[in-house]
Amino acid sequence: MGNGLRTLVLPAVDARLIEALRAATRVVVLTGAGVSSESGVPTFRDRQSGLWETFDAAELATPSAYARDPALVWGWYEWRRATVLAAQPNAGHRALAAMAGLVPQFTLITQNVDDLHERAGSSCVVHLHGELSRPYCEGCRQGYAHAPGVPELPPGGKRIEPPRCAACGARIRPGVVWFGESLPHLPWLAALEATRACEVFLCCGTSAVVQPAASLANFAIDAGALTVQVNPNQTDLDASVTVAIRGPTGMVLPQLVRETWPGA
Ligand code: APR
Repeated sequence: MGNGLRTLVLPAVDARLIEALRAATRVVVLTGAGVSSESGVPTFRDRQSGLWETFDAAELATPSAYARDPALVWGWYEWRRATVLAAQPNAGHRALAAMAGLVPQFTLITQNVDDLHERAGSSCVVHLHGELSRPYCEGCRQGYAHAPGVPELPPGGKRIEPPRCAACGARIRPGVVWFGESLPHLPWLAALEATRACEVFLCCGTSAVVQPAASLANFAIDAGALTVQVNPNQTDLDASVTVAIRGPTGMVLPQLVRETWPGA
């Protein structure tokens, strides 16, 4: 289904999408940073602030950046973790949690490293790019538990030396997948399997440029699923999805749930 592109103006939701969602047994949603942006978590393409103003997020999120300046990169991730801990899930996160109860087999795949889907009530979220809350040892890979609570940081953030592993003394690293690293095997397999079997695939709040996550939409298209993009901005996917909905996920997703399952 590569043709039939329609850009919709709210509040209309494409009737094909509503019918397909109602009839679907298997629905997959892939989310990206845009879904958390309405909770105040900056996306990767937003200009950074504070100590990180002169850095591109994509430059900090690499193994070589961590090797070169661990205190800078660990400080950045602590600053992001503090931002997420202070944030609340938004209506988009909640709509996806509700959708899980309305579709027989619902798979939520995210590129986000925050826990806002879980805090909105979603369970079994497939995290393709790891999680901020799960740092681990670079040496023995044992997990490391952050001190409870929100890290105390100046508003612009600060450099912080990473902690050391209690078991082997090696450096702890953020529990996220950096550019140039492989995705975790089992989450990726779960994402692929669900995508290849789904009838409806929604791509929400992602620039759809970072591989291999971005290729999931193409797998869904090849498998004959009805594919949807929800994004206020244009992306490369606009040309290939069945329905492109131009709008913020915090508005569009609740509306989609309301119109598809009125009274739910
Ligand atoms: N609702 C929906 N989409 C939004 C909203 C919103 N309210 N606000 C912004 N967006 C869109 C932007 O238009 C953009 O297309 O969200 C997208 C965010 O793009 P990225 O910052 O590139 O985030 P993402 O696609 O998740 O990035 C993928 O790249 O940097 C790596 O590992 C990192 O997981 C990340 C991956």
